[in-house]
Order: sequence, then C-alpha cells, then structure tokens
Amino acid sequence: MIKRCLFPAAGYGTRFLPATKAMPKEMLPILTKPLIQYGVEEAYEAGCTIMATITGRGKRAITDHFDISYELEHQIQGSDKEELLVGIRALIKNCTFTYTPQNEMKGLGDAIHKGKALVGDTAPFAVILADDLCVNPDGEGVMTQMVKLYEKYKCSIVAIMEVPHDQVHKYGVISGREIEKDIFLIDDMVEKPDNDKTPSNLVIIGRYILTPDIFKIIEDTKPGKNGEIQITDALLTQSKKGMVLGYKFQGKRFDCGSLDGFVEATNYFYNNLKELKK
Ligand code: UTP
Repeated sequence: MIKRCLFPAAGYGTRFLPATKAMPKEMLPILTKPLIQYGVEEAYEAGCTIMATITGRGKRAITDHFDISYELEHQIQGSDKEELLVGIRALIKNCTFTYTPQNEMKGLGDAIHKGKALVGDTAPFAVILADDLCVNPDGEGVMTQMVKLYEKYKCSIVAIMEVPHDQVHKYGVISGREIEKDIFLIDDMVEKPDNDKTPSNLVIIGRYILTPDIFKIIEDTKPGKNGEIQITDALLTQSKKGMVLGYKFQGKRFDCGSLDGFVEATNYFYNNLKELKK
C-alpha cells in the first residue's frame, strides 16, 4: 500500500567538506555503493517503487546514478564487470525516480513538504534519510518492518533507538508509553534538547512513515530549533490530534552523516562482505 518513498537530500553535508563541495553527501560510497542506493534498496524491499528525491545543489550525480549510462553499458557488455551493475540495473528497471529542488534550506519539515508535489497528498508515504544507513543482517529491512506496523496501526510512525544520555542533543527525542514490545505511543517530542532537559533517551532516526495530513500540519508549523521548520514539531502536533508511534526497530543504524559513523559503516560492510565471500 505504501508505494512512494521520499529522500530528502538537500542538505549541504558540511561535515564532509570538501568532498561534498560539488557532490551530494548521499552519493558518498560505503564500499562501492552510494548511500542513497542503500536507501533506495531498503525502500524497494519494503514495496516502494516511486522514489522521490528532494535535491539541492549537485543534484546531477543522483539523477545520473539512477539513469542508464549507455556508453558504460556498451563498454562493459559481456565482461565480468557486468555483475557490478546488476543491483542498480534492477532498481532502474523496476522503479520510477522523480526529483524536485528544495530551493532554500529551511529544515527537514520544509524539505518533506516540498515532496508533496511528488508523493501526493492522498496516501501514506515513506521517508528515508540516506545518510542514516540501516541494515538488519538477521531479517527484514527497517522500512519493511515499519510498513508492516503501518498496516496494523494506520498512523505516522518514526523509527527510534536508544542512545547514551549525553548524545540526545543531536536528535529529535520522544517520550511515550510502550503499548506493545518496542512500540511506543508518543506523548512528547523535542528537537535537539539539552542533555539535562530531555524527555528520554529514545531518539528518532531517519526513517518515517507519514500520513498525508502531515502536509497541512507542516504548513501551520512555525520555525523551531535553529529557525528551521522541524518535522519533529509537526509530528508532535499530529500526535496530539491523533496518534504517532515510535518503533524501536530490529537492526543496526550507522550515522553516515558523521565521519565516525561513516568509517564504522565502511568497516562493517567490508568485514561482512569478506564473510559472505568466504
Ligand atoms: P543534516 O543536518 O544531518 O544534514 O540533515 P546536512 O545539513 O546535509 O549535514 P551537515 O550537518 O551540514 O554535515 C538531515 C537530513 O535532512 C536533509 C539532509 O539532506 C539530510 O539527509 N535536509 C535537512 C534537507 O533535505 N533539507 C533541509 O533543509 C535540512
């Protein structure tokens, strides 16, 4: 039922300068695959076939990545290198890719609102921040888990995880009542609270399922933390009008928007790939 996935990718990625000067952060590779391809694969596994990206500067690289390169195809046809393109070819064949620019960096809430033209305002949709790289070596991908949960509860859902208390200031933080194992009915949400004023240590990571009424709520949301339109503020409003769930997902998440997380992910994938090849 959830066919569309939004990829906000308009950020400047300043923590990776100068690499991100002319290239979007989402195109940084973990081994041989850019971050955004991992995100698109996760969305596709969950049943999405329409991949909508909110772009900023340097959008060409993302657009080109999800398009056929005829010269390249011609060049490697029949060689053993062809197997390196099997994954991306399948995505290009089976999915539709759409793009719109954010124009001004006014926050994640604003970026998601720009996606209204791409995902429409009649059906729920997924959101993946590709710089949060998620894997679940033991089973289904994080977005697949969330889509299943949506089918039961039919409301907006955010993926959450526990972090040490001194890390909460980097995230949107939730509090709520655990209504089922790992499923929280959210009653409060704060964007990047001070470590000593946090409602909990359960933080939101870059996976969301949003119901389309979120667009109107974002329109009515005033700029919050750092003068940006925060999706956390809009989701708090939505939770007060109806309900929003926090889901403690199964799997691992790497913060590839930070150097430490990026290196950790690279090592993890390199070691696991070696395991697979044994
Ligand atoms: P971040 O704040 O982590 O990304 O936003 P950034 O600004 O690109 O990175 P740094 O801090 O300068 O290194 C989280 C996600 O939200 C998107 C970003 O592209 C990233 O995927 N985003 C954020 C937007 O698309 N638009 C915005 O206005 C803000």
